[in-house]
Amino acid sequence: MYPLRRNRRLRTNDTIRNLVRETIISPNDFLVPLFIVEGKGIKQEIASMPNYYRFSLDLLEQEVKALWQLGLKSVLLFVKVPDNLKDNQGREALNAHGLMQRAIKTVKNTCPDMLVMTDVALDPYSSYGHDGIVAEGKIVNDDTVDILAEMSLSHAQAGADFVAPSDMMDGRILAIREALEDNGFVDTGIMSYSAKYASAFYGPFRDALDSAPADIKNVPKDKQTYQMDYANRFEALKETEMDIDEGADIVMVKPGLCYLDIVREIKNEVDVPVAVYQVSGEYAMLKAAAEKGWLDHDAVMLEQITAIKRAGADVIASYFAKDVVKLLS
Ligand code: PBG
Repeated sequence: MYPLRRNRRLRTNDTIRNLVRETIISPNDFLVPLFIVEGKGIKQEIASMPNYYRFSLDLLEQEVKALWQLGLKSVLLFVKVPDNLKDNQGREALNAHGLMQRAIKTVKNTCPDMLVMTDVALDPYSSYGHDGIVAEGKIVNDDTVDILAEMSLSHAQAGADFVAPSDMMDGRILAIREALEDNGFVDTGIMSYSAKYASAFYGPFRDALDSAPADIKNVPKDKQTYQMDYANRFEALKETEMDIDEGADIVMVKPGLCYLDIVREIKNEVDVPVAVYQVSGEYAMLKAAAEKGWLDHDAVMLEQITAIKRAGADVIASYFAKDVVKLLS
């Protein structure tokens, strides 16, 4: 009771504030998304993601070393697939010498202890820009799941530590777990995008990989038949519990900032680590506002990352990882 308790005592100066701070950000919190392209000597800035790049494999080596130096020891790989290799089934995803498979080996050869997670979904490989096979105007679930399981196995064979299915098909975690177990990859983990919402915040990412749903007759223009309705909350719990039952080692909520209520609720319910993906649109918003001089970039960035961790994130996938770690050191 006041004045016995004056809450401001604990805010008097930096030292006491540092002493009682509840949420501390460290390099170990981060998973760094990396975009990879074919070619040599390529470091291409993504137009809608200032200061974020697509790397060819040779320059990926340098980037991975730089991340390791900064204490960033986990990466999440995405590939930009040439148009001529795209089809409805995403067959190129299973190519043992495909860009993803070579990227995994490149990271592991450069930095053997770097934790490598890989995106598992058909969209970068799909001529229609969907996470699954399209037939008669629909995204086919079960046939897609078969491919996702094979794709996961191919990533594990190339050396991935974790596969990260981002597609939102039903039943894919169990199928992937079984494919990995049956083939001896008992230690390969699954980070499931469990509560992934159909969000307009993915726009810049689809620019980065040229993976937006195609505007073609009889092809759905959005991903609302598989990604979740952003109005829903119970559904996120259901999806997450099912993925854990099917064998997910880490679950994820995506996007980040608009969904921190969901993050907290899931964190309170489950006993596996919870990851949060602060997505491309969230990155782009802050970059744009900072460019205009309307927001203090570094201050807002730290506030947002801290809020994500405070909400319950054990793992944060963020395009700001390097910026944050540089700022803290
Ligand atoms: C696709 C995928 C997307 C992202 C990660 N994996 C986009 C989508 O679902 O259309 C988005 C990441 C971001 O926006 O940063 N499977």
